[in-house]
Amino acid sequence: MKVIVKENYDEMSKVCAQMIGSKVKEKPNIILGLATGSTPIGTYKELVKMYKEGQIDFSKITTFNLDEYVGLDKDNPNSYYYFMMENLFKWINIDLKNVNIPDGKALDLSKEVEEYENRLEKSGGVDVQILGIGGNGHIAFNEPGEYLNTKTSVVDLTEDTIIANSRFFNSLDEVPKKAISMGIGSILKSKEIILLASGKSKSKALFEFLTKDRITTYLPVSFLHLHSNLTVICDKDAYSLVEESCLCKKN
Ligand code: PGA
Repeated sequence: MKVIVKENYDEMSKVCAQMIGSKVKEKPNIILGLATGSTPIGTYKELVKMYKEGQIDFSKITTFNLDEYVGLDKDNPNSYYYFMMENLFKWINIDLKNVNIPDGKALDLSKEVEEYENRLEKSGGVDVQILGIGGNGHIAFNEPGEYLNTKTSVVDLTEDTIIANSRFFNSLDEVPKKAISMGIGSILKSKEIILLASGKSKSKALFEFLTKDRITTYLPVSFLHLHSNLTVICDKDAYSLVEESCLCKKN
């Protein structure tokens, strides 16, 4: 595992965008695994900037998103489809036919999750997956608990996550209680993973992950220890507890 610690959120975002940008240049038909939430917004902004400057061509890429809320339409401003359109897709020359996001309004959710996993499998797999981390250590919507799903599934969100995500909604009641999420196994199949973490609210989960060489379903991010090509890019605030403990050596 490689750990890159940057001064702040903007620096973290620039490093991530540069990594992604050079990978798209190397392999124009790359398959990118994309995340939503506050964390990757800066990375997407940088990628849009690079596109506008003529540095990157996104016309041949394929994308798979990690998750989507159950019950929200694509045009609901809180859906992850809408998020991706607003923060990235509508500003670049991606072919929307190559965009994959689970359909949270599918009538048959069991069929939807099965088909999503099959599509992922048939694509040949994600080349580079961007991940955020929840304050509770979740990755995508794989929440801490007795077990974790290996494949794309319908999941119940934990109270922590519902509260954390309520900042985007008018009230706590409006936050969907279920989501479709890629499983831990689906994520680990990616050829390369970039985990982003920014801010003090992520410092505990990052500390638990980076300083303990063990896996537990109660800290879903810990399963990334099983991946052989992982880069963590974080800012100083997210890294603060690791820094304090002096257990982990900064790269
Ligand atoms: P955030 O969410 O980027 O909005 O902090 C990350 C996550 O919960 O995975």
